[in-house]
Order: sequence, then C-alpha cells, then structure tokens
Amino acid sequence: MNNIYNSQLYSDVCMGLGKKNKTLPSKYFYDKLGSQLFDKICLLTEYYLTRTEVSILEKNINIINKYLQNNLSIFEFGAGSLQKIKILLDNLSVENYIPIDISFEFLNYHSELLRSDYSNIKIEPLYADFNKKIDYQKNNFDNYNNKIGFFPGSTIGNFDPSSAKKLLKNFGEFLGINSKLIIGIDMIKEKNILLNAYNDKEGITAKFNLNILIRINRELKANFDLNYYKHIAIYNDNYNRIEMHIISLKDQIVKIGDKEIYIKENEIIHTENSYKYSEKSFLNLAKSSGYKKINSWNDKDKFFNVLLLGYDP
Ligand code: AVJ
Repeated sequence: MNNIYNSQLYSDVCMGLGKKNKTLPSKYFYDKLGSQLFDKICLLTEYYLTRTEVSILEKNINIINKYLQNNLSIFEFGAGSLQKIKILLDNLSVENYIPIDISFEFLNYHSELLRSDYSNIKIEPLYADFNKKIDYQKNNFDNYNNKIGFFPGSTIGNFDPSSAKKLLKNFGEFLGINSKLIIGIDMIKEKNILLNAYNDKEGITAKFNLNILIRINRELKANFDLNYYKHIAIYNDNYNRIEMHIISLKDQIVKIGDKEIYIKENEIIHTENSYKYSEKSFLNLAKSSGYKKINSWNDKDKFFNVLLLGYDP
C-alpha cells in the first residue's frame, strides 16, 4: 500500500470516522491554510481571546518578570505564528527560545522571521506533537537552565480534563521540579459571547473547521464533497465547552483509500472541544498534575485568565 495509508493522519482519520459518533482530531486543523485561517480568527471582533490575553500579558509582564530568573529557556507548546512570545522576549531575560509546533513549514518560516529581530536569543524550533509524550530526552535540553513553559491561547481547552491533566504533568516532568509555566485559559462566561466567538459573521471559523476535510482530501486522496458539509458550533453546558462539529447535509459516502465511509444526512463529525474554566476549576486540575499557583491575572471583564504556576509535585 501507498505510504500515505501508513501515516498517522490516515490511522487517526479512520479511527475517528469509524466510531459510532464520528470524530476528527482538532490538531489536524493546522496545515498551512489552517494555520493562516487560525491567525485570521485571532483578529476577529467576535474572537476576544487573543487580544484579551495579549493585553493581560502586556500589562503584567513586569510583575511576571519579578517571579522569574535571568537567562531563561522558554519552551512554547503549540507556538503557531510566534506573536505572543514577543512580549516575553522583549521584557524578560531570555537566553533560549524553543517553539514547539506540528505545523512544520509554519514553524520554520516564523522562526526565521523571529531570528532576524532577536539575534541575541538562541531560537531552536522543535517540530513535534506535544499531544504525545515528546521524546524530550532525545532532544537534549538537560543542560538548559531556568526552564519556563509557555502555553498561551487557551490551547489547553482542546483537551478533555483527564488528557489536560496528563499533558500538564508531562510538561512538568520535562521542565523539571520548580520550573514554571505561564498558561492562558478562557473563562466561563455568558453563553452568547462564547457562541459568537465560534460562529463569526464572516465565516472564517466555518472555513477553518471545514478545512480539515480539504486537508484529508488532499493528503489522503479522499473525496469529501465540500458542498454537502456545514460548520456548526454549540455550547455544551454540562462540560463547559464549545463543541465544533461538521454536519452532513445529505446521505453520502466518502472514499478514503480502500475504505468507504457512510455518512447520514444530519450526522455530525465532532472536530473540536474548547473547554472553558473558572480559575478555581482550572487550579484543581493544575494541582492534580503537580502544579501550584504562584499568581494570576485577568482582564477587567474576567474573560480570560493568565496564570503563573510552579511545578512542585
Ligand atoms: C487554539 C484551541 C485555543 O479553541 O478557541 C478557534 C481554536 N477553534 N476557533 C480555541 C479555535 C475555533 C482555539 N484554540
């Protein structure tokens, strides 16, 4: 069989679409176009998350600095287009910066751009999937001092609580005892504000969601007909999470390799969860992974929360 049918993407897609309640992993949103669409989402009026987090960071970076040492090594998990890190690089004493991302081209392109502005900082992009236990040993960061994790954007919200707990524990084990983590979480708020953030008027979020099918068509030579799928986003009160789905507009069959998958009219493919937290509920989770709160900062509306945690299991 062809190489593409031995890929992780193929096995994850078959596994997800083979289930009774169909799913696709949200990490596959981020091919080149998906990463660009996500950057567009971050600029939308409805998507308050990015600008709110940026303003919290800018406003409090000098206080955050007081808790940190000099010559830091910052590891950013899911680094994207490397915008928020500039606030840290401009205001903290940073020696090494290791952006970690699964979008290879995007990571290299943006690392190169960043290098030209920060020639005094060692920038070492690491192409990896932090969803899995990254083989950090292999990457030999043992001799790096003052390790700080940076996990902004409410990316933690993509993980269900038990995976989130494992993920944070994995960060802590990698960064080491007494290392610190700067993490951004999206807070529980009025439902309509949340719903609008994932159902923008321009339809960028819809494009972002449906792009996962375009990617599967391209990379796995599948034949999803984009005319017959639609984006939906709902808020699930039971779990305090936004759910994105793709709904099928008719009974249809999609071919992927030698597999034929039947999809009924109105059947949904669950593509993403985006969990929202109160500070209290998040700190419970963090504690169960070995992290303790050092301090935290909000915007005035309490839409978003940036926390500084210490790993002390
Ligand atoms: C990158 C996971 C934080 O959940 O808000 C944006 C992704 N999905 N619009 C989020 C996303 C739809 C985003 N995270």
